[in-house]
Amino acid sequence: MRHLMNPMDFSVEELDRLFDLAADIEKNPEKYAHKCTGKKLATCFYEPSTRTRLSFETAMLNLGGSVIGFSDAGSSSASKGESVSDTIRVISCFADICAMRHPKEGAPMVAASHSTIPVINAGDGGHQHPTQTLTDLLTIRSLKGRLDNFTIGICGDLKFGRTVHSLVNALSRYSGIRFVFISPEELRIPGYLREKLWDNALTFEEVIRLEDVMGKLDLLYMTRVQRERFFNEEDYVRLKDFYILNKDKMALAKPDCLILHPLPRVNEISVEVDKDPRAVYFKQVQYGVYVRMALILTLLDLA
Ligand code: NCD
Repeated sequence: MRHLMNPMDFSVEELDRLFDLAADIEKNPEKYAHKCTGKKLATCFYEPSTRTRLSFETAMLNLGGSVIGFSDAGSSSASKGESVSDTIRVISCFADICAMRHPKEGAPMVAASHSTIPVINAGDGGHQHPTQTLTDLLTIRSLKGRLDNFTIGICGDLKFGRTVHSLVNALSRYSGIRFVFISPEELRIPGYLREKLWDNALTFEEVIRLEDVMGKLDLLYMTRVQRERFFNEEDYVRLKDFYILNKDKMALAKPDCLILHPLPRVNEISVEVDKDPRAVYFKQVQYGVYVRMALILTLLDLA
């Protein structure tokens, strides 16, 4: 039985197979409409979510399966003091597969170690968010035709943004990737990630001004400042509007530079950018459903 905690849990070859499957699902959805008949997905969300939870639920419904779960810790037995390891033992009796989001780093891993069904990490604190990374990679592969040899700018909250940590890990396995990290001093990538990039001789630079690097990017991954992970509101207020991608900045970008964002957006991309054909963050949401369908099939051994 396999779980997904980190995008590195799958080899590059396994990811290729997963993306091929997602691409086939996109082309022939009817072929997959009954693959999960009789199967249940449990979504155990101890932290708010719109996209990720509903994307998982849509993925399972598209496969002909059904869904159970809870969407905030207050309505689950966690509010009575139940441990994650007990909850997953219970959920294992009800469902065939579980997607779990938790504010504590490592909680889905604890669940996986006590589970008799596959567990998918749907985001654990400021740590990892592997299915967002699968979504990001499928989007890039589908729209750029490759996952190697490009310069990617990652902008915003690189310290607390779990989607950033997962994406950097995953992309560091492909050749010819050049990272440009764009953040205020206080929100730079964590030290462990910088050391990992050094150890693997990967090309990266860290800058503060988006305008200075815009023209050399093939991809720009914007992120929101993660309010819920700040220790004080003042720092959040000071940093929240540090970057606002608008038409003027888009004018500096390459004609084929794609703009990605895991969403939710707050202020960091002005709505006037939405009409630009290079803005693909809403297409990304659709790719998220295909890749989660492919993931459910793979972990249930139904692919
Ligand atoms: C991300 C998350 O939850 O980390 N959202 C998502 O799953 N699409 C990004 C964010 O909340 O900023």
